[in-house]
Amino acid sequence: MDTIGVGLIGSGYIAHYHARGLAEAADVEVPVLCSLDGKAAEEFADKYGINDVTDQINDMLGREDIQAVVISTPNKFHAPYAIEFMKNGIDVFVEKPMAVSALQGTEMIECARKNERILMIGHMWRFDTEVNYIRDIVQSGKPGDIFKTKGYGIHVNWGPAGWFTEKELAGGGALADMGVHAIDTARYILGDPEPKEVYAKISTSFGDYEVDDNGIVVITWETGAVSIIESGWWHPHADGPEAGTQVFGTEGYASLFPTFWKKKQGDNPEKIVPDMPERKEHCDQVMYSQQMKHFIECVRNRIKPVSGMTEGQTVLRIVDAAYESARSGKVVKL
Ligand SMILES: NC(=O)c1ccc[n+]([C@@H]2O[C@H](COP(=O)([O-])OP(=O)(O)OC[C@H]3O[C@@H](n4cnc5c(N)ncnc54)[C@H](O)[C@@H]3O)[C@@H](O)[C@H]2O)c1
Repeated sequence: MDTIGVGLIGSGYIAHYHARGLAEAADVEVPVLCSLDGKAAEEFADKYGINDVTDQINDMLGREDIQAVVISTPNKFHAPYAIEFMKNGIDVFVEKPMAVSALQGTEMIECARKNERILMIGHMWRFDTEVNYIRDIVQSGKPGDIFKTKGYGIHVNWGPAGWFTEKELAGGGALADMGVHAIDTARYILGDPEPKEVYAKISTSFGDYEVDDNGIVVITWETGAVSIIESGWWHPHADGPEAGTQVFGTEGYASLFPTFWKKKQGDNPEKIVPDMPERKEHCDQVMYSQQMKHFIECVRNRIKPVSGMTEGQTVLRIVDAAYESARSGKVVKL
């Protein structure tokens, strides 16, 4: 098997998960890191056995020893960096959100198609065992026709600082940060339907910044099912751990975190609770490692990723529509 060389861009919080994931993948080498973290970047490189460190992405272009990159930078750089690498023949994994606007997403897709590159987006819940259990139950038809989902991505008594709260760098607040996971998870469980309408109420209630920390988004899918999505930072309460989704069907109900499902059976519905591997943390390394393994498989075998560019772009279209709806007070048709 040919070794795949991967360059990392960014050495912050999420890059550690990706570096560990790549270390677990077979026949992968990481020869170079690009980061603005100075000494911390050198320490990161030492920790994961990366030989070269630079603070210029141009230094990574034209290197024979990388076929792919993993972009874990502030959101503003996702699109321009991904496009630059793809133009230079390099496959790209980019963190969520795919970009700061659907327009940028379109440009990334055009570039990937033109240059025949793999473009995968970090919607990592698609690689989680419990998410896939609930998706399989829903797709089996056992809960009947799905008419509603309720999902959220909320940090309780906590919220990020720094670039996450700067509109210029992040593109948006909790909706762009946490809401995107809840939107993509609901859509994945539903079998990736097209969104038709979006209505949203979005506000800033907790911080002195120009981005949102409270959002309620209502999405109507082509199937007629409606998804309610909540996003937030610093909230006093969430219905469970930092992300969860409930699915309501005409014949049953499925819950992700806690994970179980039940069939509608008069007054005594049968509740089925599957055995699931123990999680060390809610967002555990296991799903990030699965995600990196899948990226490498896609690069090696030229496969379309499960969380590919159209999936990332659909989330961006919903997010853009939600911000527009919150501004106008009107339903936005897609
Ligand atoms: N999927 C997830 O669970 C998850 C979790 C956290 C963050 N993220 C996403 O990952 C990305 C990074 O988030 P983070 O929490 O790791 O941020 P972070 O602030 O911890 O790290 C950002 C990194 O980007 C580098 N950087 C900044 N500007 C750069 C530039 N112009 N060129 C090259 N490198 C640059 C910094 O030096 C730093 O190493 C964001 O898009 C975020 O939304 C995803």
